Amino acid sequence: MEEIVVIKCGGSTMDQLPDSFFQAIASLQQDGKKLVIVHGGGPAINAMLDRVQIAPQFVDGLRVTCEDTLGVVEMVLCGSINKALVRRLTRAGAKAWGVSGIDGQTIVAEKTSKPLGWVGEIKQMNAAIPKAILTQGYLPVIAPLSVSTDGGNTFNVNADVAAGAVAAALGAEKLVMVTDVPGILRPQADGSKALVQETNAREIAAMIADEVITGGMIPKVTAALDALGQGVEQVVICKGTAEDLLAVCAGKEAGTTVRTRGGVYQ
Ligand SMILES: Nc1ncnc2c1ncn2[C@@H]1O[C@H](COP(=O)(O)OP(=O)(O)OP(=O)(O)O)[C@@H](O)[C@H]1O
Ligand SMILES: [Mg+2]
Repeated sequence: MEEIVVIKCGGSTMDQLPDSFFQAIASLQQDGKKLVIVHGGGPAINAMLDRVQIAPQFVDGLRVTCEDTLGVVEMVLCGSINKALVRRLTRAGAKAWGVSGIDGQTIVAEKTSKPLGWVGEIKQMNAAIPKAILTQGYLPVIAPLSVSTDGGNTFNVNADVAAGAVAAALGAEKLVMVTDVPGILRPQADGSKALVQETNAREIAAMIADEVITGGMIPKVTAALDALGQGVEQVVICKGTAEDLLAVCAGKEAGTTVRTRGGVYQ
């Protein structure tokens, strides 16, 4: 299959994504680029949890998913968020097809042994459905839910981890992690924050240890390094702008480029 670009759209930024971002996706698709979107939905999940009076819980940026939370996660991710993205893409002129990791057993997982509740650890990826959707000329929009081997259970999966696994399973050329910050930021002596334009596993381990990288950025950099370790050529963490997306797809500088060179992530 031709070179594929997987775009992870962070829930953090979904409401702020401008029409021009989706138009850029549409123009890339019309130019024959194979694109796949994996999306998050953190704020929308939290808003719905608030409405049904369940307090969200996180450990190191990872959501703790109790049974009631899982129902909300499935409803929001596979339902409203996935369809909202498909609608925006369609309006921008793209051909988009929403699915979840449950459909076609695209993402098979087992319940984690960590105290995170109904969270899955990915055991197997099946790229048949995203590939079939691409072959039909559509852009798969994947909600990061996973399913057990026997099909009996749904597990929540962090969207960054799911995006990394999808990129690896598709043999993607690039993984673009679109979020609400311009990339990895590092505090400066004068109190400002500077964009880290390029980093690697060793620097990332140090930034996590120094608490420069915290919260939701932890699963993001971990998933980025895992994807690189599984053959994805380039991972970029950037803002959801047409400019950044088009730059990355054209092989130009944007956001933070993560490289494996310079150390192995432990
Ligand atoms: N060094 C850092 N540089 C930039 N952002 C950081 C850093 N450390 C922690 N963060 C946090 O990581 C957040 C991005 O991760 P977050 O999980 O919130 O968003 P997302 O992954 O885009 O959305 P979702 O999880 O809903 O898919 C930033 O908004 C910021 O608060
Ligand atoms: Mg996140």
